Amino acid sequence: MTPKWKFEDINWTLFDAQKVNPDILKIIKAGSVVEHNGADYGAYLCNVFEGDELFQKEINSWEKDEIKHGKTLAKWVELADPSYNFEDRFKAYREGFPIDTMTKDSIRGSCGAELLARCMVEIGTSSFYSAIKDATDEPLLKHICGKIAADELRHYKLFYTHFQRYQGKEKLTIFKRFKVAVSRILENEDEELAFAYYIANNEKGPFSCPYYTKVYGRVVYQCYQKIHVERGIALLCKAIGINPRGVLQKILSFVASYMLTTKAREYTKALQGG
Ligand SMILES: [Fe+2]
Ligand SMILES: [Fe+2]
Repeated sequence: MTPKWKFEDINWTLFDAQKVNPDILKIIKAGSVVEHNGADYGAYLCNVFEGDELFQKEINSWEKDEIKHGKTLAKWVELADPSYNFEDRFKAYREGFPIDTMTKDSIRGSCGAELLARCMVEIGTSSFYSAIKDATDEPLLKHICGKIAADELRHYKLFYTHFQRYQGKEKLTIFKRFKVAVSRILENEDEELAFAYYIANNEKGPFSCPYYTKVYGRVVYQCYQKIHVERGIALLCKAIGINPRGVLQKILSFVASYMLTTKAREYTKALQGG
């Protein structure tokens, strides 16, 4: 997979400090440390796919893309907040959230299931960057998020292609595929993003996963529009093998949009102590 753009291609002169939204800035700080940790995820995947040299090669370029995302976001954050010490925050993140890179077995149970879970991650990130791109008024962040969202969509296609290869052998049932997809999506409310937010923003006091899940979710869920959800669900349907333009896609899109709106409202209320 050849990279479509380089760090040097970013037009940094677009930056407009007046248009930085402080809530979005905090979310992007979290994104910078998670993305930059791509090498650890890459090492994990190379172990799980030991012997599959074709795929391992793809993983190496995928990993470089993710690190480039982290570096680009960190540079944007440093423009928006010159006090941000990315190196320091990234080190703290890696220490606090280590990934088991030595395991030989996929935590998803099989290589096919691992690839399907990776498809879900890339759907999540491409939807996330598209939503932030449309939510922010800051021109440089818009420009960066557009480029990253396009990369994430290519990553989805990469994992989907290899998933199909493994699915030919593993033949995971539709029930299993649905289960893997949904369980990976629900993990978005696990510790990783909440902890990344806490660490990247150098928050004071002890870490509380439920609290920071709400702080993070309140901002992010409000950025999603119907179009981002519909596109994401269409990709999910395609990955699990159901019609991406069928009735089920419409029902799932409606449910997902409803859940995002409800959660954004719930979290706002909870954080206001209401
Ligand atoms: Fe990324
Ligand atoms: Fe990605």
